Amino acid sequence: MTTVLTGITTTGTPHLGNYVGAIKPAIKKSKLDDINSYFFLADFHALIKCWEPDRVAQSTKEIAATWLALGLDTDQAMFYRQSDIPEIPELTWLLTCMTSKGLMNRAHAYKAQVAENLAENPEQGEADPDKGVTMGLFSYPVLMAADILMFNADEVPVGKDQTQHLEMARDIGARFNHHFGEHFKMPKTIVDDKVSILPGLDGRKMSKSYNNTIPLWLPEKKLRKHIMKIKTNLLEPGEPKDPNDSFVFDIYKAFATESQVNEMRTAFENGIAWGEAKQQLFEMINTELSGPREKYNELMENPDIIEKELIKGAEKARAYATPLLAKLKQAVGIRPIK
Ligand code: TRP
Repeated sequence: MTTVLTGITTTGTPHLGNYVGAIKPAIKKSKLDDINSYFFLADFHALIKCWEPDRVAQSTKEIAATWLALGLDTDQAMFYRQSDIPEIPELTWLLTCMTSKGLMNRAHAYKAQVAENLAENPEQGEADPDKGVTMGLFSYPVLMAADILMFNADEVPVGKDQTQHLEMARDIGARFNHHFGEHFKMPKTIVDDKVSILPGLDGRKMSKSYNNTIPLWLPEKKLRKHIMKIKTNLLEPGEPKDPNDSFVFDIYKAFATESQVNEMRTAFENGIAWGEAKQQLFEMINTELSGPREKYNELMENPDIIEKELIKGAEKARAYATPLLAKLKQAVGIRPIK
């Protein structure tokens, strides 16, 4: 059995890029017999960058409903909310005491903030390089290490920007093992280049931070409207178009079968109008999402179902976490008096 684990920070609304790049492949893989999946809503991570309570709560609800609507089998996979597992913050502390500050000084997210502070104030020597840096931001790789090591994950699928955090998780876990015995497996980073680069409306990677996303659960009409906004060039209907230089084609590829891709390639060469290509793209995406969309809307109207699923997931996950944490405490010397 291979244990695959990944977390989703609960600050945003799921978009097509999340779906194609992460959610769809994760759910598909979770159905394999030799895969043990852990998917969790990283709501403690959300607090690092988001101090809008309603947004955190709403995002948690939307992301949970999304995975359920898309057919995640919660009997087979573990699906839980990070904050429902009190063992995770406890483990975070044990690991924090095994983490050198110098390692955290090198974390990209922290360094980026420091660099920004210094750039704002280049010649002022007394400028505070740590302006706007909370301890949450600074030590967030330790929390992430606890997420992963808590369940002895073998594989962690993440975006490229997260690979450093995985190196740190291995570093921290290895140091704990070195001092207190072999408790943790070293998790492998899985970055899938092929699926992670769905372009957004403007052609840059689809991302909340670029404001170029197509939300996953738009009603049909709005979905069509968004797709019609994807940036194209000025070639007229009838003029041949280069599929290798088209965001419409790139997105089409992410949804279509091989033979559909080939047909569209020919249509491009034959000068399909942009409006027509986008219409076909819309129909393809809409066909795939219309069933799950109904399910999603139903779940959003029945939040108790979502809550129950998460409670069930937390119970299952804690069945693993509770005994492991007890062992770890024993190992570091936090023990009953005797
Ligand atoms: N930090 C990750 C991100 O921003 C989310 C995350 C939190 C995560 N904990 C994790 C991913 C553990 C993988 C494993 O994408």
